[in-house]
Amino acid sequence: MRRNTTVGTVDAEVLAYTAGQDRILDLALVEADCMGTAAHVRMLAAMPVEPPVLKAAEVEAVTAELARIVEDSRAGKFKITLEDQDVHLAVERRLTAKLGDLGKRVHTCRSRNDQVAVDLRLFGKVRLLDAMQATAALAGVLSAFARQHRKIPMVGRTHMQPAMPSSVGLWASAWAESLLDDFSLLMAAYDLNDQCPLGSAASYGVPLPIDRQLTSDLLGFARPVSNVLHANQSRGKLESVILSALSQAMLTLSRLAEDLILFSMPEFGYFRLPAEYTTGSSIMPQKRNPDVMELLRAKAAKVMAQASVTAEIVRAAPSGYNRDLQETKEPFMRGFDLAISSLRVMTAVMSALQVDAAACRRAFTPDVFATDRALELVVGGMPFRDAYREVKAHLGDLKDRDPDAAIAAKTHLGAPAGLDFDGLDARIEEAARWADDERADFEMHRDALLSGAALPEPAGCGG
Ligand code: ARG
Repeated sequence: MRRNTTVGTVDAEVLAYTAGQDRILDLALVEADCMGTAAHVRMLAAMPVEPPVLKAAEVEAVTAELARIVEDSRAGKFKITLEDQDVHLAVERRLTAKLGDLGKRVHTCRSRNDQVAVDLRLFGKVRLLDAMQATAALAGVLSAFARQHRKIPMVGRTHMQPAMPSSVGLWASAWAESLLDDFSLLMAAYDLNDQCPLGSAASYGVPLPIDRQLTSDLLGFARPVSNVLHANQSRGKLESVILSALSQAMLTLSRLAEDLILFSMPEFGYFRLPAEYTTGSSIMPQKRNPDVMELLRAKAAKVMAQASVTAEIVRAAPSGYNRDLQETKEPFMRGFDLAISSLRVMTAVMSALQVDAAACRRAFTPDVFATDRALELVVGGMPFRDAYREVKAHLGDLKDRDPDAAIAAKTHLGAPAGLDFDGLDARIEEAARWADDERADFEMHRDALLSGAALPEPAGCGG
């Protein structure tokens, strides 16, 4: 039966439906929302209108209260009620409760639409940096693992069939390099995200001389989004770009997980998953299962699904703000959680993965050397196709050869004995340093904004 309760003028059921998960999800946006408001009030005070919308002392009072809200939020004490609907109204309610009329002025020249857009970009910045630092850390662990085991032969496979001599070093550093590609994609997404949407208001700007460059600089963005309509309606599309980049990292991880499951099966035995990263069975006493890797595969599927549901939500949205966008918040946040936790778990597993060198060598059956043998004949002057036929006709004659010598002979760039570990490590360190610097810059802007301190000149200002 339908209860006809109302909250204010809105039916209670409708309010719950429209507020959706915001009351919970927006708790992750409190700090960003306060940063946005701190930058906005500073800009309002500097806006050339008479009398000024806000005086310097008022900006100070608002900033101090915003800092207290952030403190409360970090202590888990800031609440968003159903009547608030979202973080934006909850913060404004608190400012008005504490500061009276002053709290009612902060929303001048702004809408919740650009608040949520700036909040999500600030949130996205921090989470992208989490993801990028985790990606660089995993690449570093894989590279170290590769270097340590670079001389251990491992059968290279195509179609899952034994193919050619390879090494554990080649296998592991391939995943590290794949993660560097993923890092580049995340960096491209980071760059798109690093533009301040604030000042778009409902989507179409305001008839007062707001300074969008100033709020962008105060918040530490690289630049403002130029067109105010684009600033607002890039929401959702931007999230789908970020989630797509995260999906690529998950694609790397999922395939690595698949290899680990396979190559740690007793039938292969190349690797041993550390006991603390396997789980037992409730009925079979002997079992040590690779559940962690299996879950990782499933979580990769889920991150890709978050990317696709986000794109689907915005696919049919017309220009300007549409409430559909609210529904992209959950997949955005969930995608980050899934990807970052997966990167971290994989880093822990790879740090402790053990290699059974004897099992790796035992897997070298004579046929693995067939191509190497054909190439030997080529060096003696035989055309390759003749050498190929010759070896194929006498596969049974292939002798046990030395896998160590076979991989030592592959010295060209990127081959088992030609891996550029120094180059790989330099790229990984550069990536990690870049993310560290960006985070320090973000935190500097955040702390300066919330303490009301004077901010340094933005980079590239020439002074
Ligand atoms: N919670 C809303 C969202 O995430 C905030 C913006 C609401 N704007 C509006 N016009 N109803 O989209």
